[in-house]
Amino acid sequence: MKRSQAMKSPTWRTAVALLLIIVIAGSIRPTPAAAQDQETDLDRRVRAFLDSRSRGWRDMNVPAVDGQKIYDIIVEHEYTRAVEIGTSTGHSGIWIAWALSKTGGKLITIEIDERRHREATAAFEEAGLSEYIDARLANAHELVPQLEGPFDFVFSDADKDWYTRYFEWMLPKLEVGGCFTAHNVRNSSSRYGGRGRGGQSGTGAFVQALLATEGLDTTFFTSGGGLSISYKLPPGIF
Ligand SMILES: C[S@@+](CC[C@H](N)C(=O)[O-])C[C@H]1O[C@@H](n2cnc3c(N)ncnc32)[C@H](O)[C@@H]1O
Repeated sequence: MKRSQAMKSPTWRTAVALLLIIVIAGSIRPTPAAAQDQETDLDRRVRAFLDSRSRGWRDMNVPAVDGQKIYDIIVEHEYTRAVEIGTSTGHSGIWIAWALSKTGGKLITIEIDERRHREATAAFEEAGLSEYIDARLANAHELVPQLEGPFDFVFSDADKDWYTRYFEWMLPKLEVGGCFTAHNVRNSSSRYGGRGRGGQSGTGAFVQALLATEGLDTTFFTSGGGLSISYKLPPGIF
């Protein structure tokens, strides 16, 4: 066979195509976004910790579905400065801090009860998330007004009668585009948010305040314990 004929043969073309595929595949590097999606050692450690505790949260902690929802909000919006009011033994704090480990952020979480604060601190350590959390043993009635903003994410889950005040204190410190969330809250026509309909005291008034506040885009996530989710809108678009 002549040389020019050999170059056109199917075998030769297949060999060249294979070689090209190998060269191109070898030069492809994962994009930063794809790299972020890969499971890290920390992810494995947090998951293992959450799995080991899945039936062991007994101090009014959020259900996992709400933890996952909060995690998704923080990661999606790339929030980095978070405040939690009501740490308890740390379940929601772990979800928040885990999300902040992705965005490079930090959480301030506040708990008044010493035993719960101690247990939460141990849980954060065990989950490998301590460096993302500033856990304060304090009365939120005193500490929240003193916190220096700005913040971009708030999770309110302490004494329900104080929800409206926590909201009023934190809203001016929340960045535009930031998110204020509160637990055990449903919209005003349902059990938890309603006035005089057996809802938890305090949350009905809070929902009224939330819905009456201009410049917020509020929705309610009801798959778990009830979560209000309010984004602060830029001035001029409401
Ligand atoms: C519903 S639990 C929080 C659950 C927690 N977010 C979780 O999912 O793991 C409410 C917590 O708020 C705390 N708390 C109540 N009043 C408080 C206050 N004034 N200051 C700080 N913490 C308070 C309670 O001691 C309790 O541990």
